[in-house]
Amino acid sequence: MSDNKNDNKLDFPKRFLWGASVSAHQVEGGNHNQWSVWELENAKARAVMAERELGKLDSWQQIELEAKNPQNYVSGDLADHYGRHKEDFDLLKQMNMNAFRFSIEWSRIEPQAGAWNAAAIKHYKDYVDELRKRGIEPIVTLFHFTLPIWFSEMGGFEKRSNVKYFTRFAKKIISELGTSVRLIITINEPEIYAIQSYHFGNWPPAMDNNFKFWRVMNNLAFAHRQASKAIHGLSRRYKVSVSKNSKLYHAGDDALLSRVSASVMQYIQDDYFIKKVIHHCDFLGVNYYFTSRIYGNRTHNPNDNLSDLGWDLQPSDIQHVLERLYGKYKKPIIITENGIADANDEKRQWWITKTIVGIQKAMNNGVKVEGYIHWSLMDNFEWAYGKWPRFGLATVDYRTGERKLRSSAIWFGRVIKKMREL
Ligand code: BGC
Repeated sequence: MSDNKNDNKLDFPKRFLWGASVSAHQVEGGNHNQWSVWELENAKARAVMAERELGKLDSWQQIELEAKNPQNYVSGDLADHYGRHKEDFDLLKQMNMNAFRFSIEWSRIEPQAGAWNAAAIKHYKDYVDELRKRGIEPIVTLFHFTLPIWFSEMGGFEKRSNVKYFTRFAKKIISELGTSVRLIITINEPEIYAIQSYHFGNWPPAMDNNFKFWRVMNNLAFAHRQASKAIHGLSRRYKVSVSKNSKLYHAGDDALLSRVSASVMQYIQDDYFIKKVIHHCDFLGVNYYFTSRIYGNRTHNPNDNLSDLGWDLQPSDIQHVLERLYGKYKKPIIITENGIADANDEKRQWWITKTIVGIQKAMNNGVKVEGYIHWSLMDNFEWAYGKWPRFGLATVDYRTGERKLRSSAIWFGRVIKKMREL
C-alpha cells in the first residue's frame, strides 16, 4: 500500500459525517436499569479499591479525590442530558458537526416487559426532530451496555430465548421513529460487554464464567441478525450495523510465536464476531482506541505516552485497522467511536489530528470511510471507573451542570468547517 507525501493532505468528501457520540446511561441522568442498581451496590467497594487499581497512573494525584469518593461511581443525575439535550445539540452545531450518535434507553421505553412508555417514546421522537432541525444526522444505538431490570433478571443475553424481547424493542422503537432515522447500530461493542460482564467481572452481572462469556457473544450476534432482519422488514432504507471495538494487535518482534499470537488475538478480537453478523450489516461501525504489541504470548505496550486512564496512545494505527477491516469485509465503514480521556485537554488535539490523517491515508488507499464520530460530545459516566475520566469535547461541571467546549473542540470545529467547505 502506498504511503506518499500527498497522504497528509486532508481532502474528505463533502458528505462525510463529522460528529460526536454519547450513550444514554453515560449522560442522561436519572436512569433505572441493571447498571444503576449495580452502581449503588458497588460504589463503596469501588472507592475502597481505587488506590490499588489506579494508584500507579500518572493522573493519580489529580483524580485521587474523585476516585476515592463513592459518589464518583453512581451515575445519578449526571448533567441531565435527558432534560438539557437541546443545549448539547447546540454544541454540535458550534463545532459544525453534521452527525450525532446516541443510544435509546430501553429501560425507559419498556420499563416492564411489554409495557411501552408513551412519554419516553415521545421524548426520543422529539430528540431526533431537534437533531434534524439542526441539520444533524442521527445515528441510533439500541443496546449500549444497559438493560431493563426485568430483562436482566430473566438472564439477559445469556439466554437465546430472551433475544426475541430485544428484537421486539428494536422493531417497536424504529417503527416509532420512522423515517426520521436512517443509520442504526443494534449493538455496541458486544465483546467488551461480554468480557467485562462475564469474564473480568467488572460490570454487572459481574461474573467470571467463560462458558457464559461465549454464550453471550453468540447470542449478541444472533440478536443483531434478528434485529437487523426486523428493521429491514420495516424498510430497506435503514442502514444497520454493529459498533465493533477493533483493537490492533501486532507482533512486537519477529519471533514466530509473537506473530502467531498477534494474529490469533486479532481473529478473536475482530473476526470471530464480525463473521457472524457481516451479512446482516449494511456498513461496519468501528470503535478504535487501542493498539497492543505482542511479544511471545504477552502484551507489552510502551508506556511513554498514555491517556489519563493509562491507555497507550497510538492514534495513527487507525489506518491499519481500517485497511484490515475493509480489505476483509468490503463494507463501507463509519468510525462510531474514537477518543481520549484527557482532563487537561493536552493531547486531544494531537490525538484527533493523527487520527484524521490516519483515516485520510486509509481512504487514499481505497478504504471507503463515511464518517468520523468522536467519543465523546461531553464528559460522561465511564462505567466502572465512574465520572473522573474526561472524554468530552465539552467539559461538564457536575455541580452546576455547566457544559463548555474545550479548546481542542473549538479547534476541531474549525477543522470540520474547512473540511465541509461551510
Ligand atoms: C464504549 C463507551 C466508553 C468508551 C471509552 C467504548 O468502549 O462504547 O461507552 O465510554 O469506549 O471507554
